[in-house]
Amino acid sequence: MMRIIVLISGNGSNLQAILDHCASGKIAGEVVGVISNKADAYGLVRAKDAGVATAILTQQQFASREEYDTSLLALMADYQPDLVVLAGFMRILSAQLVHHFAGRMLNIHPSLLPKYQGLHTHQRAIDAGDSEHGTSVHFVTEELDGGPVILQARVPIFEGDEADEVAARVQAQEHSIYPLVVRWFCEGRLQMMDGAVQLDGALLGPAGYACE
Ligand code: GAR
Repeated sequence: MMRIIVLISGNGSNLQAILDHCASGKIAGEVVGVISNKADAYGLVRAKDAGVATAILTQQQFASREEYDTSLLALMADYQPDLVVLAGFMRILSAQLVHHFAGRMLNIHPSLLPKYQGLHTHQRAIDAGDSEHGTSVHFVTEELDGGPVILQARVPIFEGDEADEVAARVQAQEHSIYPLVVRWFCEGRLQMMDGAVQLDGALLGPAGYACE
């Protein structure tokens, strides 16, 4: 069983999807810890309901960003994770931390990377007049939202859509693609090699695994 830890800042709906897939046996892994940088993140309730250990590490407990990151790294390492899953964790991680977990840390970002790195992705896609938007699961590297893409899902943007409608459409896709990628990783099918993604020994292209 792979040991998985999940880092969150909010609702934790992606965490829930991963917990559900572990519970049903679809993911050959166990979520052994959930860490939040927000004390009131609803994802902490989801973790407790699933019987998973939780920890809260807020910036206010530390004098500097560096001290926070050092404690976060130590806390994460305590769980001895095989895989670190960032699921709506809204902090930029230090290079040291990213290096420590290189090749075993995943993130989900609500855009079709490399488009719309950073914040407010749904509104930016609407404002740009895009008819298509989506979400990407990628390995985490030092470059913010810049690590190699493993899997993307696309959704349409309809005329008159508000950002929250597009976000809901994107999230529905996230809840199926993120558990799938975690499943691949736990089955030993997924690796990051020289900054690229390998699935079942084959190199994936810039948009990750695609079945077009
Ligand atoms: C997800 O939509 C995820 O793509 C996004 O935060 C949301 C978390 O939702 N992540 C980022 O914006 C990271 N840059 P959740 O807490 O319900 O899983």
